[in-house]
Amino acid sequence: MKIGAPKEVHEGEARVAITPESAGHLQKLGHEVFVEAGAGLAAGFTDEAYKAAGVEVMKTPAALFKMVDIVAKVRPPTETEAKRLVKGQTLISFFYPSSNEALMELVKSKGATAIAMDMVPRISRAQKMDALSSMANIAGYRAVIEAGNNFGRFFTGQVTAAGKVAPAKVLVVGAGVAGLAAIGTSTSLGAITYAFDVRPEVAEQIESMGAEFVFLEFEDSELPDGAETGGYAPPSSPEFQAKQLEKFRELAPDIDIVICTALIPNRPAPVLWTKDMVEAMKPGSVIVDLAAERGGNCELTKPEEKVVTDNNVTIIGYTDFPSRMSTQSSTLYGNNIRHMMADLTPEKDGVVVHDMEDDVIRGATITHEGEITWPPPPPKVAAIATQKKEKPKELTPEEKRAQEVAAFQAETKFQVGLLAVGGALLLLAGLFTPASFMQHFIVFTLACFVGFQVIWGVAHSLHTPLMAVTNAISSIIILGALLQIGSGSWLVILLAALSVFMAGVNIFGGFLVTRRMLAMFQKS
Ligand code: NAI
Repeated sequence: MKIGAPKEVHEGEARVAITPESAGHLQKLGHEVFVEAGAGLAAGFTDEAYKAAGVEVMKTPAALFKMVDIVAKVRPPTETEAKRLVKGQTLISFFYPSSNEALMELVKSKGATAIAMDMVPRISRAQKMDALSSMANIAGYRAVIEAGNNFGRFFTGQVTAAGKVAPAKVLVVGAGVAGLAAIGTSTSLGAITYAFDVRPEVAEQIESMGAEFVFLEFEDSELPDGAETGGYAPPSSPEFQAKQLEKFRELAPDIDIVICTALIPNRPAPVLWTKDMVEAMKPGSVIVDLAAERGGNCELTKPEEKVVTDNNVTIIGYTDFPSRMSTQSSTLYGNNIRHMMADLTPEKDGVVVHDMEDDVIRGATITHEGEITWPPPPPKVAAIATQKKEKPKELTPEEKRAQEVAAFQAETKFQVGLLAVGGALLLLAGLFTPASFMQHFIVFTLACFVGFQVIWGVAHSLHTPLMAVTNAISSIIILGALLQIGSGSWLVILLAALSVFMAGVNIFGGFLVTRRMLAMFQKS
């Protein structure tokens, strides 16, 4: 099939839906690729780069729409673009169907199929097509960079000859995709980072990224849960919200940068950073409100704008962060589109199979064969956030006792079996070997057994003293082996030589390990 990307017409939009790299992947799926002239220029991809990747460059948008079977775009289509669609054609783009019903009607009336990239369900298999996540990731990163650009100090703390600099304190509100990206960026720049989310299960992720989770003292049973909402947080209760605001009010005078990302899909953003909190912040502080598109988490946010308050706090409400990093976002969005195309082209033969039984394709399709197919039924596979840890079942004392008895019996059976086999082997050896050999052999077997039992049970923290002991044992072995090596029997010489070799491995290995351990403490 023929797939093509027009130049985005939304003012200031710098992204493009197909990059030269993603075009290569689309061609491998058996498709022919087209772009409108200059489509990738704002994202750093020239027409020449597309041509070099085997992409045909069309002069006008009208010619492109006429040429292709599948139109790939970033922003929802304008009315003009939607009117250009024809029966049987497919449009793949962000669409936000809940706020664009008239547009959806128009696409349906044209008989075209529309796949909304923002409707890709949040299930594990669909992560590679999850364009909302890839854009939110970029927005989270860029939010911190933008904050740094408007903040008059370092992120990291420093001790210099000219004086000591305290590290900046950053609070990230909402630890979804954008929030976690912001946390990662902020901690890697050296700021002390705090993060808050209504979903307590993200605390571990927050802490593993080097930030501190802001805990609220609140009954566990009252906490919201993302289980029934397709991986998104449900609204929190008024009591919870009050506690949350109280905590933020307490933090406000101490925080230098706030990155707001809290959102519940299809709802206005909750107001979490109120006017009085802004007023309590130090002059020079910065708030970046990623939720600006839905009204903002900060009461004073002006969508699309940067404002500076009377107490010199900068509030950034831009809604085009991904477009401000257009090369990166086009690359990731282009990949999302080509993965969607891979799902639509199961045989990699350039033939699109629009399988409405497939959770991902069904979820994202909003118009198909002259029908509006939005909203989709819930996916058959559970959302990512619904995978909850099962609580281990509490056992009654009787059940515990029965379990212990069963474990003891199994262990005894195993040990008795081992003893019987060992005894039989020893008897067999005794029948064919001299008495002196048996004497030594039994001592050797017992030594192996005791050594194994002792070493196996040693805790990791005691491995260093254990190494010291094994080195001492090596010395004893090497001494004994040297005394025996002059013996007349070839068997004794062989065993002694073997002992010298093994003890030698331990001794020289000890030196090597010590060297490596010391190197870990040396500054490069
Ligand atoms: P997400 O759904 O992955 O994360 C939102 C997080 O907010 C969730 O973890 C949720 O539990 C949390 N949350 C909800 N209510 C909360 C509350 N009252 N208090 C604390 N946490 C709360 O969403 P994602 O993908 O991370 O996007 C975050 C925001 O960034 C959205 O508003 C999205 O529209 C916006 N965005 C903005 C862009 C821009 O250029 N300005 C670009 C991309 C995304």
